[in-house]
Amino acid sequence: MTTSTPLTQDELKALVGQAALRYIVPGDIVGVGTGSTVNKFIDALATVKDQVRGAVSSSVASTERLRTIGIPVLDANEVEQLGVYIDGADEIDGQGHMVKGGGAALTREKIVAALARQFVCIADESKLVETLGRFPLPVEVIPMATAHVVRRFAALGGQATLRLKDGQPLVTDNGQHILDVTGLSITDPLALESQINQWPGVVTVGIFAHQKAQVCLLGTAQGVKTLNF
Ligand code: A5P
Repeated sequence: MTTSTPLTQDELKALVGQAALRYIVPGDIVGVGTGSTVNKFIDALATVKDQVRGAVSSSVASTERLRTIGIPVLDANEVEQLGVYIDGADEIDGQGHMVKGGGAALTREKIVAALARQFVCIADESKLVETLGRFPLPVEVIPMATAHVVRRFAALGGQATLRLKDGQPLVTDNGQHILDVTGLSITDPLALESQINQWPGVVTVGIFAHQKAQVCLLGTAQGVKTLNF
């Protein structure tokens, strides 16, 4: 009898990172997200780096990794359109709506995703949920608006907490702060994203519904499942 050890979460991330390579067309400039799953994708990209013209990156951290493996990183303003944007998610539902921003890179992620014709989400199966909202919703805010935005969330039944790093408010790549909001059940992601986007001082809300994924490569015990939305 053969017994196989279940793949670890890290191995599932490596599997989907590798699988994402098939969405790259030779000569492409690729949109690259942020996070531990994307780091696996960047590792895989290193093996085919001669096939890509460059990348547009969604964070300082990913830019550094891409440059380390020798991939030129272009400014988003230099690129009109990308064929594909590859990024992870904190949660994804059965329609391709996502919660993102656990790594604080949500604003640049939304910008780079907006340039792409196709969003390919890479995630291990723990990220697939029926309804978004279990993972605290990240929201990037301009610091002077923090208390006001916290009160707005309270009125919706959410508890917003300022994200800290080493005991100090975390400062994003854009020089702003992050609120993490619990207690929300995101049953209508499109409407809630639109609503929060209207609040003064909100830079970006981590609901990606207007810019949802078209494809999710989901790492499961049975291998990589492809979900098309
Ligand atoms: C970064 O800000 C996030 O949007 C990431 O895409 C998300 O947190 C997923 O990260 P992991 O791949 O590390 O789980």
